Amino acid sequence: GLKIVTIGGGSSYTPELIEGFIKYHEELPVKEIWLVDIEEGKEKLEIVGELARRMVAKAGVSIDIFLTLDRRKALSGADFVTTQLRVGQLAARALDEKIPLKHGVIGQETNGPGGLFKAFRTIPVMLEIAKEMEELCPDAWLINFTNPAGMVTEAVLRYSGISKVVGLCNVPIGMERGVADLLNVDPARVRIDFAGLNHMVYGIDVFVDGKSVKSEIIELITDPDKAITMKNIHAMGWEPSFLRGLNLFPCPYHNYYYKTGDVLAQELKDAEKGETRAEVVQKLEAGLFELYKDPELAIKPPQLEKRGGAYYSDAAVRLIRSMYMDKCDIQAVNTVNHGAITGIPYESAVEVSCIITKDGPKPITVGELPIAVQGLVMQIKSFERVAIEAAISGDYEKALLAMTINPLVPSDRVAKLILDEMLEAHRAYLPQF
Ligand code: G6P
Ligand code: MN
Ligand code: MN
Repeated sequence: GLKIVTIGGGSSYTPELIEGFIKYHEELPVKEIWLVDIEEGKEKLEIVGELARRMVAKAGVSIDIFLTLDRRKALSGADFVTTQLRVGQLAARALDEKIPLKHGVIGQETNGPGGLFKAFRTIPVMLEIAKEMEELCPDAWLINFTNPAGMVTEAVLRYSGISKVVGLCNVPIGMERGVADLLNVDPARVRIDFAGLNHMVYGIDVFVDGKSVKSEIIELITDPDKAITMKNIHAMGWEPSFLRGLNLFPCPYHNYYYKTGDVLAQELKDAEKGETRAEVVQKLEAGLFELYKDPELAIKPPQLEKRGGAYYSDAAVRLIRSMYMDKCDIQAVNTVNHGAITGIPYESAVEVSCIITKDGPKPITVGELPIAVQGLVMQIKSFERVAIEAAISGDYEKALLAMTINPLVPSDRVAKLILDEMLEAHRAYLPQF
C-alpha cells in the first residue's frame, strides 16, 4: 500500500482530502496517511486527525492515520507528499490582504502583492521540504497545493534538487463543474483545454462529449447570474461584448485583472466591515474546528463547502490515482512548460491540460496563446520569476522590482510603501530579508 504524507495536515481542508482517499480507495490502495504539522498547529492537527480517523473507520476502509510534528520521520519512505501549509497561518493572510488595501491596492493572496509576500514566506520552507525529500523519499512525487501554487511549483522545479513536483489548483476542475452545471450534463462529459498560469488560466476551448460548446458557454456567462466563480471571489459579471471579443473562457481570478477598480471598491467596502476574505475565513475556520471536535462527526461537514477549495479533494486524489495507475487521462496541472506554450520560458511552470502518466504530467501542446492575453500572462510570469529570485536571495531591490511589475500595483512609489510596510509586518517569517 501507499504512504501519503500531508504537510500542513492540521489544515481545516484535511477532511476534504481524506474524503477523496476514502472515495477512491479501491483503485488507489493508500495504506498510511501521515498528517504533519508544526508546534503552533498541534491542537488543530489533533482535532482534524481524530476526525480523519473517525471518517476512515466509519467508511470501513483500512487506512492508518498518523499524526506527527516530526516531518523527517513522516517523509521517510513516502510515495506521495502533499503540501497545504500556510506559513504564519491566517493572521499572515489577513496582513497580505489588508496592507495593500490601505494603499488603494488589491491584496490578493496569490498573484497580487499579498501573494508576493506569501511567496516570500513559503518558498524557503518548500525548498527545505524538497531537500528533505531528496534524502528521505527520492522517488516520491510532491503534489503542491500551497499558494501561490504556480510560483511554488516553479521554485521547486528550478531551485531544488527534485523534479518530481506537480502544482495543483481546484480552479480548472471548478470551471469544468461550472460548465456541467450550466449545461446540466454530467461533469465527466465536459473537457476544457486549459492554458496559462495558476490563477491566470484560460479555457481555450470547451467540449461536451468532444464537441466544442465554447460559443454557447460564452453566451451563457454573459448573464451575470451565470458567471462561474468560487466562494472566495466576488464575480461581478462580464461585459458581454468584452467576453465575446475575448472569445476565451476566463477563470474567476481574472476578475482581479479585468475589473480591477470594481473589485477594489468592493474589497474596500468589505474591509471596512471587517470582512476581508481572511477575516471571513478565520470565522469560518473557527466554526469548522468546533464541528470537527464533535465525536459524533465522522464525515466531511457540508459547511466546508463555504471555502474556496471546493472539489480540491477530487482534484488531488484524481491526480494521484492517475499517476499511480498510469491512466493517461487529461487533467490540468502546474508543470514544467517544456515548450507547450510558446513564449513562456522552457523550464518555467505553466498551468496546462496534461496527459497524466506514471512519469508525471505531459503537457499537451498549445502553441501561441491568443495575442490579446499573451501580454498579461507574460507579465504575471515575469512577476513570478522576479518574485522567486527575491524570495530566495532576500534582495530588497528585486523585491521592489517584483512588487512594481505586478499588474495590480500602480507605481514604484506605492510599491515601495506596500513593500516596506509588509516587510515589517511579516518580519518574523522572513529570515532571508
Ligand atoms: C480557490 C483557489 C485556492 C485558494 C482558495 C481560497 O479555491 O484555487 O488556491 O486557496 O480558493 O479559498 P478560501 O476559502 O481560503 O478563501
Ligand atoms: Mn529541474
Ligand atoms: Mn488555486
